[in-house]
Amino acid sequence: MMERVLEPEVMDDPAQVLAYAHADFERENQGFVDQFFTLYPDLENPHIVDLGCGPGDIPLRVVQGHAMCRVTGIDASQPMITYAEEAVRNAGFQDRIQLICERFQDVTLSSPADAIISNSLVHHVPNPLRFWYCLKNLLKPGSPVLVMDLLRPESPEAAQAIVDVQAPNEPEQLRKDFYQSLLAAYTEDEVAAHLAELNLSRLFVDVPDDRHWIVYGQVF
Ligand SMILES: C[S@@+](CC[C@H](N)C(=O)[O-])C[C@H]1O[C@@H](n2cnc3c(N)ncnc32)[C@H](O)[C@@H]1O
Repeated sequence: MMERVLEPEVMDDPAQVLAYAHADFERENQGFVDQFFTLYPDLENPHIVDLGCGPGDIPLRVVQGHAMCRVTGIDASQPMITYAEEAVRNAGFQDRIQLICERFQDVTLSSPADAIISNSLVHHVPNPLRFWYCLKNLLKPGSPVLVMDLLRPESPEAAQAIVDVQAPNEPEQLRKDFYQSLLAAYTEDEVAAHLAELNLSRLFVDVPDDRHWIVYGQVF
């Protein structure tokens, strides 16, 4: 198994942000949101925090499909937050989506969240224990989470093969970012070890396909 190759934490390179903000992640992002509400159908008027919300596609899908939800999206990249603000304004959801440009490690909330979601952030984080520690501190005890990220393949060649199969016609910038993200990702065993180290014993790791892991459950 190849070693992890860390990539920059915050996505604030203009070309990278442009490519990401214009990419079509509908299938993955809507699947992620649908999975969250399938896992947790009984949440009442929840305040959901999205860590590493990027250009705001996931917060928008949450509020568009679920009338009583409020979302706070947090991202450390000002260009990403600028895209998210524009998307939220254009969709008319400023009253239900709040956006904060800050590293999640530095965020404090006026009241703890009812749930946390996060897609494709963890592979950016140099110290993953810090991610799980902050997630726990931002939540009301007993609250649900859904975290998804890429799964590190066995080798650079296997990573390139995933890019070629999943994103054959995407712009070169996006293909490059995808490849580097796969190299920076964690394995299922590593994620399980991180959860165990923080005693997050009610969170479970699953591998739904050849390139993702998810963590779901409640945080106490
Ligand atoms: C691959 S994007 C995913 C965006 C979004 N979650 C999605 O699925 O469309 C990862 C995002 O995490 C952000 N990020 C990285 N490190 C962060 C940190 N420490 N605090 C907050 N955001 C961070 C990056 O700036 C980037 O926008």
